[in-house]
Amino acid sequence: MKTQTRDTQQADTTWTHEHSAGLYGITEWGGKYFAVSPKGEVIVRAPVGDNRLEEVSLMEIVGALAERDLTMPVLIRLENLVDARVRSLNESFADAMRAAGYRGEFRGAFPVKVNQQSHVVQEIARFGEHYHHGLEVGSKAELLVALSVIRDRESVIVCNGYKDAEFIDLGLQAVVLGYKCFFVLENPDEIELIVKRSAQMGVEPLIGARLKLSTKVEGHWSKDSGERSLFGLTANQLVDVVDKMKQAGLLHCFRLLHFHLGSQIPNIRNIRTGLLEACRYYIALINEGAPLGYLDIGGGLAVDYDGTSSTSGYSRNYNIKEYCVDIVEAIQESFDQYDIPHPTIISESGRATVAHTAVLLFNILDVTRFEPRAIPDSLPEDAPESVVNLRDVIAGISPATLQECYHDIVHYRDQAQELFAQGEIDLRLRAVADDLYLAGLKKIAAIIPTLKRVPSELETLADRLADIYYGNFSVFQSLPDSWAINQIFPIMPIHRLCEEPTRQAVIADITCDCDGKLDNFTLMDGYSNTIPLHPFNPDDEYYIGVFLVGAYQETLGDLHNLFGDTNIASIRVNEDRSFDVVHEFHGDSISDVLSYVEYEPHTLLQEFRRKAEAAVKEGRINVAERQRMLGLFAESLRGYTYFEK
Ligand SMILES: Cc1ncc(COP(=O)(O)O)c(C=O)c1O
Repeated sequence: MKTQTRDTQQADTTWTHEHSAGLYGITEWGGKYFAVSPKGEVIVRAPVGDNRLEEVSLMEIVGALAERDLTMPVLIRLENLVDARVRSLNESFADAMRAAGYRGEFRGAFPVKVNQQSHVVQEIARFGEHYHHGLEVGSKAELLVALSVIRDRESVIVCNGYKDAEFIDLGLQAVVLGYKCFFVLENPDEIELIVKRSAQMGVEPLIGARLKLSTKVEGHWSKDSGERSLFGLTANQLVDVVDKMKQAGLLHCFRLLHFHLGSQIPNIRNIRTGLLEACRYYIALINEGAPLGYLDIGGGLAVDYDGTSSTSGYSRNYNIKEYCVDIVEAIQESFDQYDIPHPTIISESGRATVAHTAVLLFNILDVTRFEPRAIPDSLPEDAPESVVNLRDVIAGISPATLQECYHDIVHYRDQAQELFAQGEIDLRLRAVADDLYLAGLKKIAAIIPTLKRVPSELETLADRLADIYYGNFSVFQSLPDSWAINQIFPIMPIHRLCEEPTRQAVIADITCDCDGKLDNFTLMDGYSNTIPLHPFNPDDEYYIGVFLVGAYQETLGDLHNLFGDTNIASIRVNEDRSFDVVHEFHGDSISDVLSYVEYEPHTLLQEFRRKAEAAVKEGRINVAERQRMLGLFAESLRGYTYFEK
């Protein structure tokens, strides 16, 4: 990204909302769901009724939430988008099957681990019922959720993960109640416990097996795919399991074959290759006498986080339609050769179902600019040679002398710092040296975009001079993947978009941790370590949105610096373009987060009360002051963990 930091006065007065839409790439990553309005605000295009799109500005939603005391930071969940994504997956598979003459069905199974929040899972189950959309679970806790929210007996519940006797008994009970609850074998030994518990309960289980495929995939999880993948059965383990089922007289219960190549698979070719390998296993197992009937293709359907439609790890070179067509056709072609009935295809798509459905909003609290103060016309008489030289070098900066001047500026600034460390120059002279240094770097940075070839050491100069915008949020709580695996999320201001953003910035959170920052952005020209933002005015709120955060982020977030869950609001846009706040959750109070780490808020208050009482006795404070202090302490315990205005 070559945009230069410029002063407000120089902002392009012809700038429009369309320039902003292009700059931040919203047209690409936002798909049909997010756009910029002519008023310069980000709007959500929510499917309503018969899938018509109604537009609501995020700024309108912010206003409505403020009236409900849901202050920043706030996570907005867009219920219409949950429904739209479930519909899109089911209808894309249905269309592909219809077009190909596929003689099987499709079943979705949303993996609960991708977003376990009750309102999300309940909405998927409620809206998904029409499509028999079920759930994939990986633990007893998730199975209990599935058993309570799934009402439709045509939907599947797929049990992955390690299963103890209690887990198996719960699943067998579901089978007794008429639910299609499959146990997927993750390792060969699991079959023995399933055989034992089924015999004891007198229930025939629905058994599945997870394959360890040799296909390797590209993307972030590439090293976990292929033969070294952590889960699934190898060919020889599969043979053992088949033999054990035969011995137990349960081979007819072997109904499902599952594989999961990895999450966020960017290249459709990998998906096709893995699927064809799985089809070979399926055919071989049919030949062994297993009835099967269900082929579970796992997750992996990727999200275009960076809007590039490419094989980058944050994107994908296919769309949902192509994904479904490729899968349906590959299965059909494989099985038709052997006259094997087309199986029910199960997809455990997670991130593609929920990523779009949540937006994190936060306000900017403050900005640090790396700007020199005005350089005095004449230097103080006692200015050392290094400071005088600094000034002279700056005067001589030109495209021809750029690299040399850069070296000199760094050299003389280092000398000035050393003199200060040795006590030879005072604080004011040191400050003049720093100002000159910054002025020199700015002058060089302004010339860089005009160069044909930029010297490598100067490539990151503009980044080093970028502003720091302090945002009211915690990366660790709300965007853990950004910190842990460098996940890119689309980020942009949600208003002022008819105004040119003239500052280049990185965004720091309020955890005071050097990792608590956002410095990897997806923009029109590609990835950038800085993002163009508008000049900050402390008297006005400035809101930033982080998009596509509905998958994994809420679940993985932690309590670093004891910043807790943010406020959350679920929004439903109505057919008349109005919207309802259908669910609101006030984020963790300080008292909540303290009790998570085993403090007892009541005891903390008692301890503080004792200190205040002692201070009264010592005459440090009077009784009225004691009351005020205790009041503030108690009020703080009840308060929000984030910055409150
Ligand atoms: C077994 C299984 N199924 C489904 C998923 C969901 O994958 P995705 O979110 O890429 O659709 C995962 C996540 O990695 C998984 O481990």
